[in-house]
Amino acid sequence: MSGKIQIENLSKVFGENESEKVVALDGVTAEIPEGSFVSLIGPSGCGKTTLLRCIAGLETPTDGTVTVDGEKVTKPGSDRGFAFQQANLFPWLSIKDNISFGLRARGIYRQRKDDVQKFINLVGLKGFEKSFPHQLSGGMNQRASLARALVGHPKILLLDEPLGALDAFTRMTMQDELLRIRHENSMTMVMVTHDVDEAVYLSDYIIVMTPRPAKVEKIIKIEMSHPRARSQDVFLQYRTEILKILNYAGKINEVEYSI
Ligand SMILES: Nc1ncnc2c1ncn2[C@@H]1O[C@H](COP(=O)(O)OP(=O)(O)O)[C@@H](O)[C@H]1O
Ligand SMILES: [Mg+2]
Repeated sequence: MSGKIQIENLSKVFGENESEKVVALDGVTAEIPEGSFVSLIGPSGCGKTTLLRCIAGLETPTDGTVTVDGEKVTKPGSDRGFAFQQANLFPWLSIKDNISFGLRARGIYRQRKDDVQKFINLVGLKGFEKSFPHQLSGGMNQRASLARALVGHPKILLLDEPLGALDAFTRMTMQDELLRIRHENSMTMVMVTHDVDEAVYLSDYIIVMTPRPAKVEKIIKIEMSHPRARSQDVFLQYRTEILKILNYAGKINEVEYSI
């Protein structure tokens, strides 16, 4: 198995001149073991997408490096699949053509044709193959984007809030699907999420980021076997620990009022 990611002292500054400068990442260091599921969690605008884009090779770091299996990332590659926050589908292509676009570009569509249908079924889009993105809901487009990333069999799957547009029940079903996909394909998954429960349910490690400029606040190892129950005591302990770091845990022990 492969797909180990090493992030070393990674910084990213946007903007040319001093007044426009935005420091998105400021010395991020983390190691993502091969085959692991890692969630990035942190305040909005802190630099999570930027970090994911640096791993994808879509962004050039200002300082520091990302390496995948020892090789420095300098550009995108088919070893890394990316499901974007906005589904980013081509509006003029059908759902099936969107999902198979990368395979066609690589000239391997014919060999993988059955695979395309397999992933369409897996993300629940059977029957919508000929539809166009504007005819489907945001959640369905997100699922198409996920299928498009999966169909290339990447060793690393980068997921930017991939389930954000889904309703709560579909979301929980898709969480189980992600675990199953990882189990069957043994890939490394790095996911940005705002949902603490989702992160605890899925992850081997959770990287909690600071407000911008993003640094690593804490890396938490989730030591629970799968399947996990959201009502387990230990689950709730992890949840509380993360909410505390993010300052959203509330003041349960300091009651100022009662009703
Ligand atoms: N291409 C860009 N040009 C200028 N600023 C950017 C660009 N991309 C992101 N930023 C800025 O970098 C910061 C981090 O953005 P982002 O990584 O998208 O945050 P997150 O995904 O955590 O919400 C934000 O302040 C954002 O405005
Ligand atoms: Mg983002």
